[in-house]
Amino acid sequence: MESTISKDNSGWWDGSIGYEIYIRSFVDSNGDGVGDLPGVTEKLEYLSWLGIDLVWITPFYPSPMADFGYDVSDYCGVDPIFGGLEDFDRLIEEAHRYDLRVIIDLVPNHSSSEHPWFLSSRSSVDDGYRGYYHWRDPAPSGGPPNNWVSHFGGSAWTLDEESEQYYLHLFLPEQPDLNWNNPKVIQEFDEILKYWLDRDIDGFRIDVAQGLVKNMLMPDNPTRFPITEDMSPRQVFAAFDHRYDLDQGGNLEIFRRWRKLVKPYDALLLGEVYLRDNDPNRVSRYVNSGDALHRAFYFAPMHVPWDPQSMWDTFRDALDAAPEDLSWALSSHDDPRAPTRFGEGREGKQRSLAYSTFLFFLPGLPFIYQGDELGLPSIEIQREDLADPVATRNADETDGRDGARSPIPWEKAHELGFTTGTPWIPMGDRTHEDTAEHQRITEGSWLKSYKELIRIRGEYLDPNTSLRWTSSRDSGVLAYRRGDTISALNVDTDDSFILLPEGEWEIVFQVGVVTVEFNEVTFGVNSAAILTLIIE
Ligand code: GLC
Repeated sequence: MESTISKDNSGWWDGSIGYEIYIRSFVDSNGDGVGDLPGVTEKLEYLSWLGIDLVWITPFYPSPMADFGYDVSDYCGVDPIFGGLEDFDRLIEEAHRYDLRVIIDLVPNHSSSEHPWFLSSRSSVDDGYRGYYHWRDPAPSGGPPNNWVSHFGGSAWTLDEESEQYYLHLFLPEQPDLNWNNPKVIQEFDEILKYWLDRDIDGFRIDVAQGLVKNMLMPDNPTRFPITEDMSPRQVFAAFDHRYDLDQGGNLEIFRRWRKLVKPYDALLLGEVYLRDNDPNRVSRYVNSGDALHRAFYFAPMHVPWDPQSMWDTFRDALDAAPEDLSWALSSHDDPRAPTRFGEGREGKQRSLAYSTFLFFLPGLPFIYQGDELGLPSIEIQREDLADPVATRNADETDGRDGARSPIPWEKAHELGFTTGTPWIPMGDRTHEDTAEHQRITEGSWLKSYKELIRIRGEYLDPNTSLRWTSSRDSGVLAYRRGDTISALNVDTDDSFILLPEGEWEIVFQVGVVTVEFNEVTFGVNSAAILTLIIE
């Protein structure tokens, strides 16, 4: 009999608030300057206090760390720098005691070049693992087989001198792309997924979900605009139409398979679907059929400028394309932190909190990136401290991701409590005022506001309600209603207002100046509010 699966993407994650832990920079428990698994376990109480339901932990597997863990050399282990398997098991057990779910980062697009599969694969053209990766003869001209480029700069092909063939890597040469057209690779990953599910995890965040399957004819990608010398790797990558290397239909087949595999475990599949143009119609395909991913990150909100037109375009289109199943994040370990994007200083922080007020009530699964709740901006990083290969391996350092990866300031102590040693990247100009310890006992702190926002969400938002816009596209305020709550954000340069629907409404959470008079709510600049219906 054919196995049946539900075409419904809902589950225990409905109504949850997620939290991204970039493990290297969270808490270091042993003084080596790098965050680790026991460090995460230490802070579960904090996460639970904050009101988090679900944590995503970035890769902790054995790795040469060329891309800080996103280059995996053993998919079923723990790198000693992060602890051991027993630390992992303890973390899961403790998290569950706190009612916190844990999803782990699966990195299927590429392995490390030190993974035994790759070492074997490169040992000979006849090796049994050769087909686990993409090996090709040089082009007739002698250069790389096609014009594909790496996200991190340069060609996506590296020549192996021994065999005189090139291998493909959409990221670093130390991150060779796996061949997802090979059924053996598919089977290997079935086992990897089961291995972790049997260790009681609650799901996976899938790295580079848009990239797995390639067009095996490997034609050149068309260019969208001319490439010039002064472009950064990201700009060069964006100059191509990634018609043949990203977003191939076969990706969905893999996720449908995994969906069946995780079903008995009731685990979540959340994809990083990073498509440069952030076309919501393409991202939504990963969730809309209801039998592939449960949720997909939508990244446009992490790049959108603070103005009504851009905000409307971003959110309206995304929610039209995928009304229920997107995941939203304010910041991440790959992008500048929200308070930096939104203008630095107090204004940047206030805008970020206002923006969170808007994001957290949307249908789907919102995520906080560690430190968002403390109002942290990115740090300035000195040239000699750069660590991210995107910065260190390219002439233009502006693209590096280190600024968003500086460690979390916990308390008044050596290195603000992150480590008893020397942090692997600088703490930046964080002060005691930024620490979780200080903010936890200070009225009006960013941390207290985030905690309150999360509490209000838990109390008033019915996760089973869909979204209806209650302001129009020409308004400076983006407002929507879900059930008996309204969430509204003013991104105008001036005061702006909305008219309330029938009934009596009350503000239950606000950022900045918001006033209600009869059925009219006036929003000061950079303000937001949650309103709830008290009398119909
Ligand atoms: C994802 C990760 C990023 C990593 C890349 C390659 O985009 O979020 O940090 O460098 O994949 O694995």
